[in-house]
Amino acid sequence: MKKQWWHDKICYQIYPKSFCDTTGSGIGDINGITEHLDYLRNLGVDIIWLSPCYPSPMADQGYDISDYRNIHPDFGTLEDFDRLVAEAKKRDMGIIMDLVVNHCSDEHPYFKEAMAHPDGKYGEYFYIEEGVDGKEPNNWRSYFGGSAWEKIPGTKNKYYLHMFHKKQPDINWENPAVREEIYDMVNFWFDRGVVGFRIDAIINIKKPHPLRGCNYPADREDGMASCAKMTEDAVGIGDFLQELKDRCFAPHQAFTVGEVCGQKEEDTIAYVGEDGYFSSMFDFEINSEEAKDGFEWMNKHFITPDMYRRAMERTQKRMEPIGFISTVLENHDLPRISSRILREADRTDTAKKLLCVLYLYQKGIPFIYQGQELGMDNTWFDDVDMMQDVSSQDEYRVCREAGLSHEEAMQVVNRFSRANTRTPFQWDDSVNGGFTTGTPWLPVNPNYKNINAAEEVANPDSVYHFYQKAIALRKDPRFAETFVYGVFGLVSQEYDNVIVYERADEKQRLVIACNMQQAEVTLDMEVGEVLLSNYGEAHPTSGRLTLRGFEAVVFRA
Ligand code: NOJ
Repeated sequence: MKKQWWHDKICYQIYPKSFCDTTGSGIGDINGITEHLDYLRNLGVDIIWLSPCYPSPMADQGYDISDYRNIHPDFGTLEDFDRLVAEAKKRDMGIIMDLVVNHCSDEHPYFKEAMAHPDGKYGEYFYIEEGVDGKEPNNWRSYFGGSAWEKIPGTKNKYYLHMFHKKQPDINWENPAVREEIYDMVNFWFDRGVVGFRIDAIINIKKPHPLRGCNYPADREDGMASCAKMTEDAVGIGDFLQELKDRCFAPHQAFTVGEVCGQKEEDTIAYVGEDGYFSSMFDFEINSEEAKDGFEWMNKHFITPDMYRRAMERTQKRMEPIGFISTVLENHDLPRISSRILREADRTDTAKKLLCVLYLYQKGIPFIYQGQELGMDNTWFDDVDMMQDVSSQDEYRVCREAGLSHEEAMQVVNRFSRANTRTPFQWDDSVNGGFTTGTPWLPVNPNYKNINAAEEVANPDSVYHFYQKAIALRKDPRFAETFVYGVFGLVSQEYDNVIVYERADEKQRLVIACNMQQAEVTLDMEVGEVLLSNYGEAHPTSGRLTLRGFEAVVFRA
């Protein structure tokens, strides 16, 4: 496989609204990121992904963009952004932006124009269709609930399509003028010095046509079918993505990572193979594993070691001949990993360090989500409106319609809400965790007194320092080649709650062993040189491998 500059990088996702507020507005800003570049560099981060920081009415917290060539005034200015890019570069770090081009905001000037003149030029920038028999053009349910079609005010029978919220109208990629505008905009950010993009919801840009009358069998009592169904029938997305790559990504040797969900298995190579549309795509296999176990999201259980092992093996094997997956434990759409995998009694620093080991040495590009390196946990909201999240609001509604009481619905929604990872970053133990001197837009997790960056940076045994050590090991010149390019293999599946995998090349075999339970276990395996243990340095370095409760060890076989 041809080597690429990004193969050995460590990425870090920043959710700007919740990272660091330097103005007292209660909202994080670009300067707050610039201020903490050294914190990230010291951790070992190479590439920073910024969730959207463009002007937006924030109906979906920035994934509804009203101006693609500017910075939201709450976050700062283009000059602040340029300074961030320059300061990152000085520290040998690159910035990637979030490319949200399946949809924009209903407050984008083009969409406003389209609503005023649906038959005019800008009407063609969106999907506008006539209704059928006084109803929507088809029966698709949007990802955030309710019909994916919204009636256009002042028209008799016209609707526009929104796969997500009604304030996120889908952009018509079939229109060449639209695509030109998109490529121009992407290159605008390259000119400002970004090294790539994370690409949002991209599988949705191609629709089956005609849209009108494209109905699917209902999958709920509302008579609608999830709009995700349409991705199975949409043919020809590759033409768009190839053009995007040729016009924007390839000339800039960009690092691009797609949020690609539900692509056809055989298409993976076209997406992220050596000549793929993107450099990489996120590993969401664990989410499919949860779905496969028949878990309705409403009563999902904890992710078990078996589930994790199965998902990991499937992804790693599938990707081996293809390319680099981007490995994740958390992002801004998921709850905190500790709350997803670890039962409350097991939610210790040791176990959180184990989770780091579990994913960091798989083949791929690791992404750390802000606060993951501190072991931040889920929080609690009494009221769904406090979450300020359209998706959680829909989940609450579905729970109530299924007959759950308010309290029961809040139990469910709190466990899975995206708001859990969106709470402000916990910098120190001062008021509001040092995130803001004002009122934070989302309440800080009350555990900030115990879990915060200042305390963890000062404490050599912290989760933060463990991440730092684990990343340093991955980059150690003696092992880096093996961790980046070595073949992945599961070593043993014989022990309950224990995951052991290896990375191997002609030079060496590096074994990663994780005991995901309180009970100690002795494996039928000789330990070689121990390179890392979440119990500190005190691991016996010869004999059979005994793992203490939630111990994770990396050793040379
Ligand atoms: C995926 C993003 O990660 C999510 O936060 C957003 O709501 C949807 N795409 C729509 O843009």
